Amino acid sequence: MIFDLSKTNSIANVFIAEIRDEQIQKDPMRFRTNMERIGAYFAFEISKTLIYQNTETQTPLGVAKTVHLAELPVLATITRAGIPMHKGMLDIFDRADCAFVAAYRKAHKSGHFEIAIEYISSPDLTDRIVIMVDPMLATGMSMVLCCKELMGRYKVKELHIVSAIASSEGIRHVRANLPKAKLWIGAIDEEMTSKSYIVPGLGDAGDLAYGAK
Ligand code: URA
Repeated sequence: MIFDLSKTNSIANVFIAEIRDEQIQKDPMRFRTNMERIGAYFAFEISKTLIYQNTETQTPLGVAKTVHLAELPVLATITRAGIPMHKGMLDIFDRADCAFVAAYRKAHKSGHFEIAIEYISSPDLTDRIVIMVDPMLATGMSMVLCCKELMGRYKVKELHIVSAIASSEGIRHVRANLPKAKLWIGAIDEEMTSKSYIVPGLGDAGDLAYGAK
């Protein structure tokens, strides 16, 4: 299953336009805020697929028929670029447990790179719904590696993958390697540079949020 936000019309598409805009990108706080809003938007979309229990809630004037989530998802992210979208999701699923994976591109002299995982912090994900966030799904290699690393440790019940911008190649790689994952994507671009940056994409999401390394 793939949800492609660009096939719909909502204010979230404006957030996507803003994170791509090189003028608006000059303000890192606005960039982070837009990423947070995109994260929050996808949290709402994913929340429509979750299971709810009928509950009763005491108000000052009586008892209201309400609903509560039967089960909270775990919010996982790839640092550092994923942090603003993660924060937006956490604003919605505000009691969710969180997992963090630090992955980076280890460059070789040839120009090629491999993905290396440096650090993982995760609760027990056995039988849990996991939402994995990375704003840019370029080759899809880090996403697949990070998800497989977590899923090698725990038998996850359901995996959602959320990205603001993906390349077609990244989508194909994820679907081939994680066929059961549900994908939530803000926009899909066709091309990548020789260094695997998405074109037109937006540039380096981590640098735009937190400054160049
Ligand atoms: N990471 C980014 O920040 N941008 C890309 O285009 C690809 C990976």
